[in-house]
Amino acid sequence: MTQQTPEPIRFAYWVPNVSGGLVVSKIPQRTGWDGDYNRELARIAETAGFDYALTQIRFTAGYGAEYQHESVAFSHALLAATDKLKVIAAILPGPWNPTIAAKQIATISQLTHGRISVNIVSGWFSGEFRAIGEPWLDHDERYRRSEEFIRALRGIWTEDNFTFRGDFYRYSNYTLKPKPAEPLPEIFQGGSSRAARDMAARVSDWYFTNGNTPEKIRAQVDDIRHKAGAEGRSVKVGVNAFVIARDTEEEARAVLQDIIDQADPDAVRAFGHEAKNAGAASPEREGNWANSTFEDLVQYNDGFRTNLIGTPDQIAERILALKEAGADLALLGFLHFQEEVKYFGDEVIPRVRALEAARAERKEAA
Ligand SMILES: Cc1cc2nc3c(=O)[nH]c(=O)nc-3n(C[C@H](O)[C@H](O)[C@H](O)COP(=O)(O)O)c2cc1C
Repeated sequence: MTQQTPEPIRFAYWVPNVSGGLVVSKIPQRTGWDGDYNRELARIAETAGFDYALTQIRFTAGYGAEYQHESVAFSHALLAATDKLKVIAAILPGPWNPTIAAKQIATISQLTHGRISVNIVSGWFSGEFRAIGEPWLDHDERYRRSEEFIRALRGIWTEDNFTFRGDFYRYSNYTLKPKPAEPLPEIFQGGSSRAARDMAARVSDWYFTNGNTPEKIRAQVDDIRHKAGAEGRSVKVGVNAFVIARDTEEEARAVLQDIIDQADPDAVRAFGHEAKNAGAASPEREGNWANSTFEDLVQYNDGFRTNLIGTPDQIAERILALKEAGADLALLGFLHFQEEVKYFGDEVIPRVRALEAARAERKEAA
């Protein structure tokens, strides 16, 4: 059922606004979580051909991520430093309510001519909620709240006299002015359990999922597109991957081995324990981290599973396989961010575009 989109696959990168890099390992990582490093990285990514940057929201330390800059504020700083890059700010229902989020994002959208988007995350780390005095809801209740959050957000952004009666949020004749600039901020969501996929089909523009094989991605895509189609909607899909691109496959594999060998076992296990509150705590026991091994958890969104590890040619072929499985976007993490984002832009993106062009030509000829 999956149909490859004729659009070029989009590229996003994880903004390292949280310290410790994207792998829970003591391997040296040439990266930085500060503003100067990240502004420069955003400019490099924009020039390299990246479409989006995704910032992370985190309120307390987990798995060695000791320092965490706030996502919306950080996103605005990156937008101010770039011209075309779109930045996705992560928002956590609970600490945020739709009123504040709608207003904050509308202002940033106006200031940046529509380059801000949002990622509505539903929460997996109960210790974080306890630390900041937020009630910790059951897994599927978190998604029920996120769905209302998204409906309210979109309503406030698009309607005057917005009125809404939900179990979590209520509005009476509320008119936001100014509304966001065009194009309206896109609504991404993180999460891939049954509840997350159903929510994506009903309300999200984009569905983000953890790293996985093309076969497993295809199953999720088919499920979401089938349900979204029944509601007359379409949902785009972004897949996480940790990229290790090197001139030879041996070098790339050796880097992966080093990352795993130097993994911090206590931090990885502590993270694995907390992640049990995600999909594994849902009635179906599916979703992010539900079947992750120790090795998978070293990259905290299962990014090794996508296997973008090898030479630029191998990686470009595997990105095309993801696209054929229905992915619209590859969300990428790197060990040494600035230099590897540049290398990816120089060596991998042009190969992906060449493969896309060749396949489109073959299709036309057939
Ligand atoms: C690409 C992506 C980005 C995410 N970003 C964040 C984040 O910044 N902060 C956060 O607390 N959770 C984040 N999450 C976690 C999700 O919102 C969700 O809680 C988690 O994936 C569990 O989902 P599941 O139980 O539906 O599988 C992210 C997830 C994905 C896939």
